[in-house]
Amino acid sequence: MNRKKFLTIAGIAVAAGGAYYISTDKSNFTRADIKGTPAEKFPLLPDERTILYLASLAPSGHNTQPWLVKYIKPFHWIVGTDKNKWLPAVDPNQRETILSIGAFIQTLEYAAGSLGYNCQFNVIAATNQDENIIEVQLVKAARVVKYDTQKIKNRRTVRSGYLADPFKKEIVDFMRNGEPDYFHFFPNTAKEHLWLNEQTIEANRIQSYRDAAQSELANWIRFSRKDAAQHLDGLTLASMEVEGIPAWYLRNFYDKKDVMKKSFREQSIEKVVQQVSKSAGWLLITSKDNSIATLLETGKKMQRLFLKVRDKGIAIHPMTQVLEEATTSRVLNQSIGISDNVQFILRTGYVKNYPLPVSLRRPVDWFVHT
Ligand SMILES: Cc1cc2nc3c(=O)[nH]c(=O)nc-3n(C[C@H](O)[C@H](O)[C@H](O)COP(=O)(O)O)c2cc1C
Repeated sequence: MNRKKFLTIAGIAVAAGGAYYISTDKSNFTRADIKGTPAEKFPLLPDERTILYLASLAPSGHNTQPWLVKYIKPFHWIVGTDKNKWLPAVDPNQRETILSIGAFIQTLEYAAGSLGYNCQFNVIAATNQDENIIEVQLVKAARVVKYDTQKIKNRRTVRSGYLADPFKKEIVDFMRNGEPDYFHFFPNTAKEHLWLNEQTIEANRIQSYRDAAQSELANWIRFSRKDAAQHLDGLTLASMEVEGIPAWYLRNFYDKKDVMKKSFREQSIEKVVQQVSKSAGWLLITSKDNSIATLLETGKKMQRLFLKVRDKGIAIHPMTQVLEEATTSRVLNQSIGISDNVQFILRTGYVKNYPLPVSLRRPVDWFVHT
């Protein structure tokens, strides 16, 4: 082939490649891409809508957003759970679902406070599986602690870019919030830290090869922009911090069935190995029992912590697999010398860059009903 002919073919190939690239899914779908509010189906008052939207920015396992709000009358609701958003393979007793509802009601309480309302709560559920969990009434009050809602909007789970810099004692005290009975910190120099690193890898390995758990995960991963925009929930590539060419490849060529392949499972485990290799330490949150009221309170504790760390440049990554897999959960208490119930295992540390929140949320109208 002469040089001229080669250049012509190469030019056509590049042009065709470019056209192909343009027709593909070129960027991750993030919270900033959610444009405007959809038609408002539910006649909520403006303050109610704002409070419920802010509450929905709470964290939840696999970002299933398991909350449902039953509307009794203005400023009088029942917060419950949506069975379709449970995670039976990793959370068969809905323990994590109730913790997530706890995080939701803490955020709701802060959001209400920012607009001058006090919340009166009344737990009504008898089991984790009840649809109606907690009744809430908002009462306009003259004296309310005004919460800065920017903290709610900016909170996010950070999974990469952790530094190994230690926390000073005052930072550990700040995080434990004067509640040493419930918050247990293991710095990266402690033997318990090493144990938790190893067991987190092990639990992830077990869970990745447990098909029920892996296929449940597959159902909550949103690879393409279209899928993400349609559901507005789950784990997007942006929230899993996959960017650039790997993200482009996954968005365009991956779907649910690929999550079940050995290569995907192995890459996920490898990612966990990298993640646990860097942190200031593990922070565990415990409770005295497993009652609904206690689980809700523990979810609230976790969210109070989560909302206040960003201002100090501190990130949090819940890593729950040790609690979810029988082999590792059985030996947890004895190995780390804690007798109470461990409810959260949080990797924590300073991060190089604190990214903006990207995880998606369903609009308020999708989770409010009569
Ligand atoms: C009860 C609970 C368990 C969680 N477990 C994990 C986990 O094991 N691994 C993980 O990467 N994130 C975990 N998360 C974080 C969620 O995935 C995250 O909150 C969700 O994707 C929404 O993202 P955001 O926190 O950035 O808003 C957990 C969150 C909660 C509330």
